[in-house]
Amino acid sequence: MSDKDPLVIFTPSGKRGRFTVGTPILTAARQLGVDLDSVCGGRGICSKCQVTPSYGEFPKHGVTVAETALSEWNAVEQRYDDKRGLPKGRRLGCQATVQSDIVIDVPAESQVHKQVVRKRAEVRDITLNPSTRIYYVEVQEPDMHDPSGDLERLVAALRKDWELPDLTADLSVFKTLQETLRKGEWKVTCAVNLLENRIMHIWPGFYEGSIYGLAVDLGSTTIAGHLCDLQTGEVVASSGLMNPQIRFGEDLMSRVSYSMMNPGGDAEMTASVREGMNQLFDAVAEEAGIDKTLIVDAVFVCNPVMHHLFLGIDPFELGQAPFALATSDAFSLKAKDLDLNLHPEARTYILPCIAGHVGADAAAVALSEAPNKSEDLVLVVDVGTNAEILLGNTEKVLACSSPTGPAFEGAQISSGQRAAPGAIERVEIDPVTKEPRFRVIGSELWSDDPGFLEAIAGTGVTGICGSGIIEVIAEMRLAGIVDGPGLIGSPEQTGTERCFLDGRTYAYKLWEDPETGQVISVTNPDIRAIQMAKAALYSGARLLMDKFGVDAVDRVVLAGAFGAHISPKHAMVLGMIPDAPLDKVTSAGNAAGTGARIALLNTEARAEIEDTVHKIHKIETAIEPRFQEHFVNASNIPNSVEPFPILNSVVTLPTETFNTGSEAAHQGGRRRRRRS
Ligand code: FES
Repeated sequence: MSDKDPLVIFTPSGKRGRFTVGTPILTAARQLGVDLDSVCGGRGICSKCQVTPSYGEFPKHGVTVAETALSEWNAVEQRYDDKRGLPKGRRLGCQATVQSDIVIDVPAESQVHKQVVRKRAEVRDITLNPSTRIYYVEVQEPDMHDPSGDLERLVAALRKDWELPDLTADLSVFKTLQETLRKGEWKVTCAVNLLENRIMHIWPGFYEGSIYGLAVDLGSTTIAGHLCDLQTGEVVASSGLMNPQIRFGEDLMSRVSYSMMNPGGDAEMTASVREGMNQLFDAVAEEAGIDKTLIVDAVFVCNPVMHHLFLGIDPFELGQAPFALATSDAFSLKAKDLDLNLHPEARTYILPCIAGHVGADAAAVALSEAPNKSEDLVLVVDVGTNAEILLGNTEKVLACSSPTGPAFEGAQISSGQRAAPGAIERVEIDPVTKEPRFRVIGSELWSDDPGFLEAIAGTGVTGICGSGIIEVIAEMRLAGIVDGPGLIGSPEQTGTERCFLDGRTYAYKLWEDPETGQVISVTNPDIRAIQMAKAALYSGARLLMDKFGVDAVDRVVLAGAFGAHISPKHAMVLGMIPDAPLDKVTSAGNAAGTGARIALLNTEARAEIEDTVHKIHKIETAIEPRFQEHFVNASNIPNSVEPFPILNSVVTLPTETFNTGSEAAHQGGRRRRRRS
């Protein structure tokens, strides 16, 4: 190459170099280390190498590009265009050759390590770098004078064309290798697992399809799976089902006890979750219209108990202090070792657990939300029956888990229910009249909007879901219906007949069905249950803040499906989360599922999270005396000692307190006597 040779400039990388006339753009890209995809190795059959040449003046690059800067459109490009259609202005990088100075744009979809865009602006995109890729090669035919095996010649071709290291093959490949090579007339496409340098699958000729991977969030209640195209990074199907283990116990500890009480119980639960998993795989493959055997990789995230039960390890030790995990390390296994029906050689990866109570799901949240890369101090809370809490920044990350119990999911609440059509999810209470209005899942109308009753005729108002219970209690607190210690006032104290005596304490009537007379109310025991749950959550977070040596955090991220529906203002009025600017409290949606997707699509992220998990400081709340102290303070709404200055600048919290429960009962008794 000389100074007289044409200059080739690639965008967006900005890489440039001089190449002799006639050099294919794909070759120039490879020599400069430009990220330009190819599956067929420049044979004009895969179309992965598409580029967009630019013509005219480019003062920024110091070149003028003539219309004739690339070779003419050729027959291969025409054939592809006729068959599949090439977008306007595109050329095939392996066919177009350099004629004079040229500027070439590599579109995102033609990049090997393309960025898979995440919807939320504040998080990084995922760089596509999957475990398995497909390569097309033409293999030398066997020769009496060169007595080498078919695999050796295939490996040599892969090394020569793709610079792959010396590969070996999985057993199932050996079984079909000879037939496939001959059927494809020595042209084959291979799926290669680049982590293990193994050929996993071989197709005769050029394989036009794709290969897939699964990102699975194995929860105690539900199992959710996302099927991703490993060549594009796109999610092609998503599905979820109830965890079939529910029949052995609603919550984790009851499943641990089931295994303790029933010999072989753990094996039964392992079989059941794996069976459920296979059903889920059938569902996603069907939705995407693909054969399940094209799924070559799967990543799992789960809490420690599910982790053990899925792997077939008795969770006994997780049911008692000191909650020792069999291992907290990440696992790489064959799918068939877990009885999963995918590609016969499919690999699986299970993220590492952080501690006995902080699982691989929390590790996945850490991967998705990356508190270790945050300049400002971020608190990440994954709310479930156990809240998993991370606090950190680039300096360090702390983690703990706090036993919130199932109240946030609507359990232990008199009118509580899971989020489903008919459940109250949004509530407002007028601070003057104390009258409520609400919205139920499945209808956009508020309960005082005209047409509300007609809109909910199919379902009715069935109960209050987790986000609804948080809103109603926070609204009751703001309207002076419930006081700081969590007591609901009497009709006289609150000025509303909606408060009624319910046993020894008062309750607040939210709704009475005009037809059936069914009442949905919030009782004092409901408030107690939420106080316990939110105090557990807050004290976990506060303990981590103590350990970090801070009294405030810069931002709060709420993860999990429940977090997606919580209103930050109401969560703060309850004192669930530390005081922070409301616009700095955001929802991350299913961050654990996203973490699984990141680990699936980018294998470097696996090493990264393993390293991050090693560096996370684990705090065991059960042995920290300060936790109890914080818990007691946080039982108040919002808190008996923490000032919450930011919250107080946004809302005014009534300061009066009502009588204690026994006085209320006493008062109620007097009222009852007066009536009789
Ligand atoms: Fe396959 Fe160009 S590299 S068509």
